[in-house]
Parts: sequence; C-alpha cells; structure tokens
Amino acid sequence: MRQSERLETGITGLDTILCGGLLCGASYIVQGSPGTGKTILANQVAFLQARRGTRVLYVTLLAESHDRLFQSLSTFDFYDTSIVDKEIIYISLSKVLREGGLPGLVRTLRAELVRQRCTMLIVDGFSIAKDSAAAALDIKTFIAELQGYAALIGGTVLLLTSSHIDDASREHTMVDGVLQLKEELVGVRGVRLIRVAKSRGSASLAGLHQYRISAKGIDVYPRLEALATPSSDETSVVEERATSGVHGFDGISGGGLVTESVTLLMGPPGSGKTTFGLNFVSAATRNCPALFFGFYESPARLRVKARALHLPIEPLEHCGALHVCWNPLRENLLDFLGHQLLDTIRKHGIRRVFIDGMTGFQRAAVHSAREIEFYTALTNELRALGHNNCRGA
Ligand SMILES: Nc1ncnc2c1ncn2[C@@H]1O[C@H](COP(=O)(O)OP(=O)(O)O)[C@@H](O)[C@H]1O
Ligand SMILES: [Mg+2]
Repeated sequence: MRQSERLETGITGLDTILCGGLLCGASYIVQGSPGTGKTILANQVAFLQARRGTRVLYVTLLAESHDRLFQSLSTFDFYDTSIVDKEIIYISLSKVLREGGLPGLVRTLRAELVRQRCTMLIVDGFSIAKDSAAAALDIKTFIAELQGYAALIGGTVLLLTSSHIDDASREHTMVDGVLQLKEELVGVRGVRLIRVAKSRGSASLAGLHQYRISAKGIDVYPRLEALATPSSDETSVVEERATSGVHGFDGISGGGLVTESVTLLMGPPGSGKTTFGLNFVSAATRNCPALFFGFYESPARLRVKARALHLPIEPLEHCGALHVCWNPLRENLLDFLGHQLLDTIRKHGIRRVFIDGMTGFQRAAVHSAREIEFYTALTNELRALGHNNCRGA
C-alpha cells in the first residue's frame, strides 16, 4: 500500500488540517447532515484531480437525477462540462442497489472500476447502501471490497453519508479517515465547521475548523492557534525603532515604535485612532510596504480622509507601497480574517500593519473561549513575519 503518497484536495485549508491531503490507497467517510456541503466538497476534489489526469468514478445512490446534480454544480467556478463523463464518470447505481442489493452493487462497482480505469471513487449516498444492508456483515464486505480496490491501485475512496456515525460503529472502525461537516447555530448565526474525526496513518489538525461555501466552492480556515506557527528567533531580536509617522510622537516614545512588535492603540470613538493609523501607514516605502487592515471605513472613505489630512495614501497605493484590506463588520469568520491578514502580509512582504480595529476580530469570534489563544497566535505570527520580511528585504 502506497500510504505515504498524498492526494491533494486542492482546498488549501483542508489539505492543511489533513497534514498534506488525503492518503492514496485510503478510504474516507465524509459525514454531515444534508446541506453541509459533502457533494460540493467531493466534486471540488474530483474536478481538481481530474484536471491533473486522475480518472474519477462518481457513483450516486441517491434518488435525485444527475441533471439536478449538474445544475447545482454548474453554479461553482470549479465545474467544467468538458470533464464530465470524460475524466469524471457519473453513474447512478440506485436501481442496481434496489434490485440486486449490496452484493449486486459491489459486483457492478467492481466491474465499472476496472472498465473505466478509475483511481478515485466517490460514493454519494453511502447511507442508502448502509440502510439497504440485509445483515451487518454486508456493509462490512462492501467497505472491505472498496478498500481492497483502493489499496491495490493506490486509489482513494470517498463515501459520502448524511447519517450519524458514532466512533464505535463498524464503518468508522473500518475506514482510514472520517471527515465530519456540520453547521452550528451560535445565537442567530450559522457557522460551518469541519473536523477530521479519524485519520489513520497520518497526523491531522484536531478539533473543529471553520469553512465557508461560496461560488469558489469550499474554503476551510484552520484554527490559527492550532497551527504550528514559527516563533520569532529570539536570539536575534534587536531593539530597533521605526518612525510612527505621527508628528511629535517619535520624540516622546524614545524614537518611534519598536520594530517587530505589536502595539495596542486605545481610545474612545473620535479620539484619532484611524488618523494615527493613516499617518503610520503613510510612512511606508516600496521596500517597506504597509497594510491598512480595516473593518470600518471603506477604502474610498479612507482615501477622502487621507486627502483632507494631506497624507499620500493614493500615490503609495499606486506604487505598491500600501495595501488596503477592508472587511465590513458583517458575519465574518475569525480564522478567515486571521488567514487573510497573514496571507496578505506574506504575499506583499508587508513591514508595517495597522488594524482598525480589534473589535472586527472580537465580533467575528463566535467561540469567545479561544480569543486569547487566537490573539496570541496572531501576534506571535505577526512578529515572526515582521522578522522574516525584514530579513528578506
Ligand atoms: N453557489 C453557492 N454559493 C454558496 N453556497 C452554496 C452554493 N450552492 C450551494 N450552496 C450551499 O451548499 C449547500 C449544499 O451543499 P451540498 O454539497 O449539496 O450538501 P450535501 O451534499 O452535504 O447535502 C447548501 O446548503 C447551500 O447552502
Ligand atoms: Mg449531497
């Protein structure tokens, strides 16, 4: 069994929590109530793999027609009709299951896999196969058969099911991995969460991670504090100062703000925090770019404000010395924000960051118990990135 080889899902955050992707030669159960995104997730992986030359057999045991499936898939960017029934072969075996039971399904599946030369198999509606099992032994044989196939050719099997699977169940014990998807109600809002409930032969990032469904498909945002973040190299910390960009402030603060550091700016509304921030980011240069990460004023409003203050926000933006990222206060996801902030810093080699304000993160924190760990992880990573970006410049 080629257990160490990985099959990328193409969903960056999911590959991260799976520590590199799905294992080749392994079988997985993807479990979640209807509407949690199992079909979208499986198809997203299938389309990515198909584009890379993998042949995928997508078996549906559900009563719904393929037309409806394609209709809903066509709303996603990853969907590509030219791949359908070429690299990804969709077949409905609900009739075979109804008429021949699980033994009939196993026979047909085996024949199709060989005939279509597929190295990835997705069974959508696995719960239906399970419900149709006359004896517990049947479902065991069914899984064993698919696993045997997967192991033999180094393929990967995904079984999508909406029925609850407890840790002690036969299916849970037999498969190599279990991904659980759910939607949690926090107050009045719904938050989608994914968990690697089992991962045989590989480490995984434990616990629940937020995900989102959009036209791009599924995006997973690993919990920031659960990621192994590189801590800054303490031995090379230097007490350097950088200008705050605020007239008179450097003089009273010992020469400006300490580099590779995080400073909290506090004050009631109207006290000048955003203005301080606009001054701070205006001290950016092309070699020392800045990021204004805001939740309140739109970029357009910030530009008007900066113009009134005679600050060169727009020229700095045009020459790539300043980036503005705006996430209006809506139902934001805490880890989405954290990853977006860090990714932008990495992408542009940002050296000075202004976050306006922390409330934006607080409002997005639906699980308040993790706030301290989240901020600690975020600020540690910001310092480490400051250090790296500084060295790289
Ligand atoms: N284009 C889209 N943009 C955002 N969300 C979508 C889109 N299409 C479907 N969804 C969401 O995806 C969910 C359906 O996902 P699906 O994979 O069919 O679930 P499952 O297979 O688990 O029943 C719906 O609940 C809907 O909220
Ligand atoms: Mg489905």
